[in-house]
This record gives sequence, C-alpha cells and structure tokens, in this order.
Amino acid sequence: IKTIGVLTSGGDAPGMNAAIRAVVRRGLSSGLNVKGIYKGYNGLLNEEIVDMTARDVSDTIERGGTILYTARCAEFRTPEGQQRGAEICKKHGIDGLVVIGGDGSFAGAQKLANLGINTIGVPGTIDLDIACTEYTIGFDTAVNTAMEAIDKVRDTSTSHERCSIIEVMGRNAGYLAMWCGIANGAEDVLIPEKYDYDEQKLINNIIASRKAGKKHHIIVNAEGIGHSEAMARRIEAATGIETRATILGHMQRGGNPTCKDRVYASMMGALAVDLLVAGKSCRVVGYRHGEFMDFDINEALAMQKDVSPYMWEVCNSLSHNYNKK
Ligand code: F6P
Repeated sequence: IKTIGVLTSGGDAPGMNAAIRAVVRRGLSSGLNVKGIYKGYNGLLNEEIVDMTARDVSDTIERGGTILYTARCAEFRTPEGQQRGAEICKKHGIDGLVVIGGDGSFAGAQKLANLGINTIGVPGTIDLDIACTEYTIGFDTAVNTAMEAIDKVRDTSTSHERCSIIEVMGRNAGYLAMWCGIANGAEDVLIPEKYDYDEQKLINNIIASRKAGKKHHIIVNAEGIGHSEAMARRIEAATGIETRATILGHMQRGGNPTCKDRVYASMMGALAVDLLVAGKSCRVVGYRHGEFMDFDINEALAMQKDVSPYMWEVCNSLSHNYNKK
C-alpha cells in the first residue's frame, strides 16, 4: 500500500474531523501518501480528490461537521457506480480507502473491496445504530447536546405546568432517546424498538402524574416514532393539559465534539490506517468491551443490534413509563 484515501459519507457527526485527522497523520507517519475525497462517494465519482498534508488537518479536531463534506450518493448504490468508483481509485493510485460513515456507507465500502480496493469502515453516526460496535463517532456529543436542550425545555415546561414532547434523532433506533430519557429524568420515553403504540396508557400516565403533583411531564420521543406535533394535540385534547412538541432536529448533529468523541474517533482513524498497513481489507473498526477492534464488513453488516433489555428496564423503572413491551 502506497496511497490511501479518506472520505466521510452519510449524515455528518461530531468527531468525524478527529477521525480524518488521525487517518491523515497516522497515514503520513506510516510513510503513505494520503488523499482526501470530498463529499463522500459523490466526490469520488466526480474526482474531487486532493492531497492531504499534516497541516491540512491542523485546528480541526475541535470542530463539528466534516472538513471533507459529506453526501448520500444514489449512484454509488448501482454496480456501474461502484465499478466507476473503483476505477477512479485506481486512476488516482488509491489502493487503500477509509470510509467514515454508517451502515449504508459500509455497504459501498464492501463493494469497493470486492472490486480490489482495500477498504476499511469507521463507524460515524450520531444514531449508535451499528451492530458490531458499542460506540459510534458523534453519539456522545449528540446525546449531550440533546440532553442540554431537554433540560432547557424542562425549565419552561415546569413554569407553565405543561406536558412537553421532545423529539430526538436516531432514524429507526432509540439509543439517543433512551439515553436522554435516563439522563433527563423523563417521565416517558418512546423508542421504536419497544413502543406498543398504546397512547391511552401514555395519557393515563400523564393524568396520574399530574394528580400526584408533578408540574411538568417530559416525554422523550424518538424520531423513529415521530409525529410529535399530532401526538401533542391529541394529548392536550385528552388530558386538558397544555402540551407542546419540540423537534430538536439537526442541531443534534452539530457542535464541538466531546473529549470522548475526539479521542475515540482518533483511535479508530489510526486503527483503520494500521489495518491497511497490515494488508487488511473489507474490515470495519469497532469498540467492544473496552477494546478497539475490527470485524469483517460482511459479518458486521449481518449483525443485529437491539437496545439492552436491562438498560431499557432501568430507564422505565426510573420514570413513569407504562410502555413496557
Ligand atoms: O443518521 C443520522 C441522522 O441524523 C438520523 O438521526 C436522521 O434520521 C437522519 O440522519 C437525517 O438525515 P438528513 O440530514 O439527510 O435529513
């Protein structure tokens, strides 16, 4: 391996810059040339490829977003797009590629590996929804951002004695919601993995907590359930308690990465380069049981993940959650 490329793909996540920086600096110190590919697989297909120096990643570890920009690329899901991507890598002398992104991005990396480009995936997503790893780049920052926002909503919710539904991101996964549910002491937590869609139970719960003297009622609702505005209107009609919905949205994806995201992303970026130097391909980096490790991409993509039953049970037992399933 002489030259490696690095790209970020899919939704951005705080800490991606730390991973890029680690790939660039670890790559250079291992005697490799390093190329940055802009805008994910889109940029690869458009040959938006530049040489990276150590200075290019100075003053980036503390910044949110991704200095390489990112995109979701429909063309790269086709065999023609993948073939063209592999040819462009070869044309630019890229014989190793680090792909920082989620499962969708790893599927592309797997295809490139089959076409002769050594590829390593690094898990970058605020959703924490990658089965092979207990940590994904950006989750820690995003969950702290959401937690702080929910604390603020709670202040005004208490003052007005309202019920507040706060919708957090996570696509089809409930990790952000469950973690905020515990961290914010929410009265109810709704996650797609466990919600039974029995809204009457939720309404009974709100009425019961009001009778018990609670001034606010915080419901953390996962994006995978969604419909927070309509839910708020129905709850207000059924309980007579003023109810507001707040959808936190993309603010959860921004901001300076936490220490954990900077350090773990740095470790994962460096490990990705070390794997390429060791001649590995079609691997994805993960973190399990306190160790950074790597898995076969095919096996990683076939793994299933579910929220920890114990953590969910604790989450429920610390709130007034009647949505046990
Ligand atoms: O995967 C990260 C994520 O922020 C999800 O939580 C969310 O469902 C999705 O991306 C939003 O995507 P977009 O930025 O394309 O609207």
